[in-house]
Amino acid sequence: MKFFGCLFLVFTSSLLSAQNLFDKEISNLLDPALKPFYFGVASGDPQQNSVIIWTKVWNDTAKMITVSWEVATDSAMTHVVASNEIYTSFSSAFTAKILVLGLQPATTYFYRFETGGIFSPIGRTKTAPVQAEQLRFAVVSCNNFEGGYFNAYRLIANRNDIDAVLHLGDYIYEYGANKSKKHPSVRQHIPEHEILNLQDYRSRYAQYRLDKDLQEAHRLHPFINVWDDHEFANDAYKDGAKNQQADEGDWEVRKAIAKKVYFEWIPITDNVEESVIRKMSYGNLADVFMIDTRVEERCKQVDPYDTLLQCTTRTILGAKQTAWLTQGVEHSAAHWKVIANQVVFSELDAHQLTKKSRINADAWDGYPEERKELFDSFYANNTKNIIIITGDIHLSWGFDLVFNPTNKNNYNQKTGKGVIGAEYVVPSVSSNGLGERIPRFLANIVALILGRKAINPHLRFQNLVDHGYMILDLNNERANATWYFCKTVRKRTEKFSDKDSWSTKWNENRLVKEK
Ligand SMILES: [Fe+2]
Repeated sequence: MKFFGCLFLVFTSSLLSAQNLFDKEISNLLDPALKPFYFGVASGDPQQNSVIIWTKVWNDTAKMITVSWEVATDSAMTHVVASNEIYTSFSSAFTAKILVLGLQPATTYFYRFETGGIFSPIGRTKTAPVQAEQLRFAVVSCNNFEGGYFNAYRLIANRNDIDAVLHLGDYIYEYGANKSKKHPSVRQHIPEHEILNLQDYRSRYAQYRLDKDLQEAHRLHPFINVWDDHEFANDAYKDGAKNQQADEGDWEVRKAIAKKVYFEWIPITDNVEESVIRKMSYGNLADVFMIDTRVEERCKQVDPYDTLLQCTTRTILGAKQTAWLTQGVEHSAAHWKVIANQVVFSELDAHQLTKKSRINADAWDGYPEERKELFDSFYANNTKNIIIITGDIHLSWGFDLVFNPTNKNNYNQKTGKGVIGAEYVVPSVSSNGLGERIPRFLANIVALILGRKAINPHLRFQNLVDHGYMILDLNNERANATWYFCKTVRKRTEKFSDKDSWSTKWNENRLVKEK
């Protein structure tokens, strides 16, 4: 069934009764004190004069309801600068999303909603600057609810010094509940089965958004999101996914449902194509390019030794997005060109660990020709100061951004020859990684092998074990990445165990460890 057929299914299923919005178990998780705003408030996609605000109202009927909203310059909501009301209905799961216009740049605002005489919690957000001396983003990815508690979000919520949270995807996971007695999860997915239909996807977002730590991070900071594969299904690509079996229905239908629900729950700019590709301007200091390496144009992954790997027609971005990105980066007047990306961009040779999987073919290593096209464009235009931020892989890496790093004509680690920026890979908030599979000392041996100068000289920093988040701190002199690691995700805690900090200087671009 093709696109219009999918839409028909999505919308006819919306005509079911209100009780069918979520799995029954979601009702058992609601805190009566928060009725009807059980899912809190959120904001996103801040621009210099606008921001999106979001809430969801619980409604036991299928009737359309009115929601009022107001935005103020003070936390007491006395100096209101914008207000109005909108309708929300069953077709959007009673979520409400408003693009608030006419705001001032680099300004903190407060907002709230009201329906039936009841007010929501008050949210806080911040618009983007025109001129800034410093920007600070919290960067996250991969919060599997079953993997553990969202301690990283609590730590982010506790901060008052960030401009926005950049989420690189895997905001939910599609898997059913883990029933393993040997490796039990600390908490379990609702519904218990793998999510496939509209009610399933909505229930999963509802469960995640009832998490207090995620809810508080949303309440206190604007988010800028892109999706990865698990918002759809594991190892997704344009025409399918590894976790899409033949008996699980039509991929196009599932993809359309996943997109619809993502746009319902995430405070992201609505657009006709339901695409996440967009540029966020942070004035003189940064342009942030939000890209889609998953469902827009990605070809199916191939085996690492498949001769198709080098095929010039295999795409991960597609021609249109590649042109948009290379031209956008080339013409950007911002000090730093930040690319918010899903899968690891840098070359990574893992053959000394495992010959069978010498590269990760789900990452950009599986699409080398299109990566070369990007590098060719960056080098041809003498573009530097590119910061790629990456999620997906559930570990932390810092790379000198350079083409073909083992070729001494291309790259010199000591002098920074050939380096045009950095790639900072962020740890998972809670999703299982190497640390859940092998002891730390073995993970450290893996890091030693991967970090050998003969095979991966551009790999400068590694933490293969810990969960947490990263702060990307930009000013005129340098782009700093500081990784904050949580003590554990097996219980709720506000303690973090450690941090690592690396910087790349403007126009020098070689990664340097901070003291
Ligand atoms: Fe992930």
